[in-house]
Amino acid sequence: MRVNTLDHGNGIRSATEEDFDRVLDIDSHSFSAPWIYNFFQSALKDIFLVLEKEKEIVGYLIACVCHDIEKAVIIRFAVHPDHRGKGIAKELLRRCLHILMERKVRIVELDVELVQRAAIRLYESFGFKIANIIVFPSNTPGDEETFYIMRLELPKLEDKAVS
Ligand SMILES: CC(C)(COP(=O)(O)OP(=O)(O)OC[C@H]1O[C@@H](n2cnc3c(N)ncnc32)[C@H](O)[C@@H]1OP(=O)(O)O)[C@@H](O)C(=O)NCCC(=O)NCCS
Repeated sequence: MRVNTLDHGNGIRSATEEDFDRVLDIDSHSFSAPWIYNFFQSALKDIFLVLEKEKEIVGYLIACVCHDIEKAVIIRFAVHPDHRGKGIAKELLRRCLHILMERKVRIVELDVELVQRAAIRLYESFGFKIANIIVFPSNTPGDEETFYIMRLELPKLEDKAVS
């Protein structure tokens, strides 16, 4: 088990393996293709934040930093359905972007499926822009899957803080 006592404030801290039961539960309620345990285990080397309210994890966010090109990718992000619409995702994303700015990351990217309207609105409200559109074709007309690649240019920490 990895011990990580990093506490980022506001109930946000780095994940440990002990959080995985709850994280897996949130993940299975949030995605049609849930991650397995090992994926989360590998993500412990990345920025893996959980937000806890009254001793219960209500959301998590995983971002991976590519140091050589000052770029990061948000790879997994969800809030438990019972806790949505209360600003939990905003808190997690704001904290993540602040950590990335501290690490001098300049570009943040993610992909989001067109049907994930709440997520798209959330990212747009933080200034993410659509950088590319990817359509995965299907044999059944109307069953194509469309994804946006969204990108945010982060200011330098001394220029501007993410509020
Ligand atoms: C996307 C998700 C993380 C948002 O979590 P949340 O805690 O409910 O979001 P917040 O309460 O912080 O809301 C933040 C913003 O998201 C947008 N939003 C949230 N819920 C929304 C909804 N039902 N419809 C439209 N926009 C919505 C709004 O812009 C909102 O800001 P506002 O309240 O000022 O209008 C959550 O819905 C979720 O886990 N969805 C399933 C998994 C997923 O899509 N993950 C992202 C993959 S890229």
